[in-house]
Amino acid sequence: MRTHTCGELRRDSVGKRVRLSGWVESVRDHGGVIFVDLRDRYGVTQVIFDPEDSRETWDKAQRLRSQHVVAVAGVVERRPPEMENPKLATGEIEVRCDRLELLNASLTPPFPLEARDPARVSEELRLTYRYLDLRRASMQRILQARHRVALSVRSYLDRMGFIEVETPILGKSTPEGARDYLVPSRILPGTFFALPQAPQQYKQLLMVAGVDRYFQLARCFRDEDLRADRQPEFTQIDIEMSFVSVADVIAVVDGLLAELFRELNVPAPEIPLPRLTYQQAMDRYGSDHPDLRYGLEIVDLTNIFADSTFQVFRRAVAAGQVVRALNARGLGQTPLRVLDEWTEVARKAGLAGLAYIRIAGTGEWKSPILKYLSDGEKEALAQRAGIQAGDLVLFAADDRAVVSKALGELRRLAAKEAGLIDPDRHALVWITEFPLFERDEAGRLTAVHHPFTAPLEEDLPHLESEPLRVRSQSYDIVMDGVELGGGSIRIHQRALQERIFALMGVDRQRGEARFGHLLTALEYGAPPHGGIALGFDRLLMLLLGAESIRDVIAFPKTQKAVDLMMGAPAPVDDLQLRELHIRLDVPRLSP
Ligand code: AMO
Ligand code: AMP
Repeated sequence: MRTHTCGELRRDSVGKRVRLSGWVESVRDHGGVIFVDLRDRYGVTQVIFDPEDSRETWDKAQRLRSQHVVAVAGVVERRPPEMENPKLATGEIEVRCDRLELLNASLTPPFPLEARDPARVSEELRLTYRYLDLRRASMQRILQARHRVALSVRSYLDRMGFIEVETPILGKSTPEGARDYLVPSRILPGTFFALPQAPQQYKQLLMVAGVDRYFQLARCFRDEDLRADRQPEFTQIDIEMSFVSVADVIAVVDGLLAELFRELNVPAPEIPLPRLTYQQAMDRYGSDHPDLRYGLEIVDLTNIFADSTFQVFRRAVAAGQVVRALNARGLGQTPLRVLDEWTEVARKAGLAGLAYIRIAGTGEWKSPILKYLSDGEKEALAQRAGIQAGDLVLFAADDRAVVSKALGELRRLAAKEAGLIDPDRHALVWITEFPLFERDEAGRLTAVHHPFTAPLEEDLPHLESEPLRVRSQSYDIVMDGVELGGGSIRIHQRALQERIFALMGVDRQRGEARFGHLLTALEYGAPPHGGIALGFDRLLMLLLGAESIRDVIAFPKTQKAVDLMMGAPAPVDDLQLRELHIRLDVPRLSP
C-alpha cells in the first residue's frame, strides 16, 4: 500500500512516483488547490490536489476529513522556495496526488489530535479513547523512546553478563508494603494466587540456583493508593547479583543510568554518582529522597543557642533536642501570608511553631524573635547560615526527626517559591544505610525495605537489644527528589533470616508457612547476593519530562485504578463465580 512512509521523502526523490498511506491530519483549501497533511508514525508529508491533475481525485479530496485513512499516489515535487517548511523533515517536498483511495473513514475525533499541547483535553477523555490519544505525535515519540530505553537496558545488562529470566505472574504473596492483587484458583477452591508486587523471592531463588547475574523487565502489581508517580501495574528493571557488596550493585546501576541518559540525549550525570547515608540526607536535606537540583542545605545551630535568652531554643537544647535552620536564599520578601502557610506546614510536621528572620535588601534583619537574640548569637548564625541581604531564615527546634521532616518540607516549598528548579537539569544521588526497621502504627517492628534485607555487619550486636538503631545494607537511587529505585544486600543465612522474622513478630509456624521455601533454599548453599529494582516508568517520566507516570504507559489506569478504555475492572458471569467458589457480599452488578 505504500512505497515510502510519511516521514521519508527528501529532495533527492523529486520526480519519483510514490505511494503513501496514512491519516489525514489537516485539510486546507487554497482557492482551488487542496493541501492535505498526511501523517503516520514516521512523520508528515504534504500532499497537494489540483483539479487540473485529476478532477475525480480532486472531488474525492474535497470530502476528506481529519483522521480518515487514505492511500495516495503521485509524483514528488520540490516545493516553491517560499512554501518550504524547515521545521519538517519532509519540508522541502510535496506529493502531487492524482490517485486517492479512502481506506477507511473516521468519525470526528472527540478531541483534536493535531494539538501539540493536549493540556486542555480532559485526561478522562484521553484515556477513554487512548488509541486516538496514542496516535498523536507526542505520544508516538514517548512509545518509541520507551522502546529504545528498554532495548538499551537489555543490551547494557547483557554486555555486563546478566541474563533475563521471566518469573511467574501467578505466584504467592511477597511483602513489599502494599496490598496484593489476588487471583482465585478454580482447581483448588479457597486458595489464591497473588500477583507479584515484585519478583523479589524468585530472583533470590535464582541466585541460589547459580544464575549469578539476573535481570528482568518485570511487571509488578500493587494495590495501593495512587499518586502521580504510582500505578497499580508498573514495570521494574529488576536486578540481582551474586558474590557482591553494596558498591558492586551501585557501580552496575551507575553505568546503566549513564547509558540510558545518553540513549535519550539527556546530558548524562557524572559517575560515580554521589552518595549520602540516610542520616546525612535527613540531617542536611530533611528527606530520604532529597532533590539535589538545588542547594538550600539545613544547618545545625544547636550549640549556638544552648544558653540563649530565646526560651524556645534554650529549652529545646536543654531537652536534648536540636535547633536547625534553613536559609531560603533570596526569599527575604516572602509575604507574611505565605509564612503563615509555611507555619501550618511546620505544625503538621510536628513543630510547635516556625520562627523566622527576614533580611531586607538593605541587609536589615526583621523578626519578632530578634529581640531575644544576643549579638554573639546573631553573628554565629549569620556565619553558619551564610546570611546575605535578601535571605529568609526558617528555624526549627524539636527532636531531630521532627526538625528534619519540617525543614525538609519547607525546603521543597522554598525552592519552588524561589524558582530554583531548572526542569532541564537532573540530579541523582544514592542514599545508603537506611534503618533496618521502623515501627508501624500498632507499634510493631516492620522492615523499612523488605524483610530479606541484610543488616550492616557492625550493627548486628544491637539487633535484639536496640533494633531501631540497626542500619541495613540498603540503598535507594533518587532522581530530582523522586525515589527511582531501591535495593539491598540480602540475608543469605537461615539463622539470621529467622532472627529478623522473630523480631517482626512472625512466629516460626507462620514464617514456615509463608517463607518456608526461601528459608529452606537458604540452607542449600545460598551464595551472598544482593540487587535492586528501578521503576522503569518513573525513570521514563523523569527523563522525558512527563507530568505523570500515566503519560509514559501505553494503557495506564486512572487514579481510581480503572481502565477507562476497556472498562476494567468489570463484573463477571454467575457461572464464573460459581466455578471459582466465590459468593459476593455486595449487590451484584450485571456484566
Ligand atoms: P521497591 O518496592 O522500592 O523495591 O520498588 C522499586 C521501585 O519500583 C518503583 N515502584 C513503582 N512505580 C510505579 N508505581 C508503583 N506503584 C511503584 N511502586 C514501586 C519505584 C521503586 O523505587 N524488590 C524490591 C527491590 C529490591 O530489593 O531489589 C522492590 O520492589 O521506582
Ligand atoms: P513563642 O514564644 O511560643 O510565641 O514563639 C516565638 C516564635 O518561635 C514564634 O514565631 C513561633 O512560631 C516560633 N516557635 C515556637 N516553637 C518553635 C519551634 N519548636 N521551632 C521553631 N520555632 C518555634
